[in-house]
Amino acid sequence: VDREGREKLLDLAEELDCMVLEDAAYQSLRYDGDPVPPILALELARKGELEDCRTVYCGSFSKTLSPGLRVGWVVAASPVIQQLVLMKQAADLHSATINQMAIHKVAKACFDTHVDRIRDAYKARRDAMLAALARHMPDGVEWTRPEGGMFIWLTLPRGMDAGDLLARAIEEKNLAFVPGRAFHADGTGENTLRLAFSCADGAMIEDGMSRLGALLRGI
Ligand SMILES: Cc1ncc(COP(=O)(O)O)c(C=O)c1O
Repeated sequence: VDREGREKLLDLAEELDCMVLEDAAYQSLRYDGDPVPPILALELARKGELEDCRTVYCGSFSKTLSPGLRVGWVVAASPVIQQLVLMKQAADLHSATINQMAIHKVAKACFDTHVDRIRDAYKARRDAMLAALARHMPDGVEWTRPEGGMFIWLTLPRGMDAGDLLARAIEEKNLAFVPGRAFHADGTGENTLRLAFSCADGAMIEDGMSRLGALLRGI
């Protein structure tokens, strides 16, 4: 969501008097384009005090340091934080202290340099996947060019079902992706799918996109 869209979202939240839950898990993973301020930062600029803000900002170390340690953070007005503490206590008392200590130590020692490294690596993988898609996808398939994150969104020709395609991809090509329907609240999106570029190297990406292209061509 661009800056204008974020401002509009804040206007709407004011009008409807509702909370904004900002899921910023991928905020550090921007490869190009201009950084957009978090919604919470835009609201803070309007109101001056965190205590007056309705936005609940959720950050995560899962995409930058380690998903397995299960450590993230929330920035919000103190009444919200107090309620979240109660909910967390009811759910599992607290996140493992040793995990929090490990994240704290690593984050203090080298968070920025580490994030710079993974940003460079993921950018190269994104570019490799974009180039491989251009080489291997048949006419009628479209895809996004994300400025950040870990995924490219593919749109297949209308009438195709990515769920059916996944079954064939696994069976015939030993290839998997995430069908897009689950990401659509209105039940549409059956001809869309999500490709992850972050966990594969250039050769694997080339091989995977070549297999996907061959499967699509054969349909
Ligand atoms: C958009 C988004 N938000 C949040 C998360 C989850 O983060 P965490 O591991 O901190 O629960 C993910 C992970 O897949 C994600 O894709």
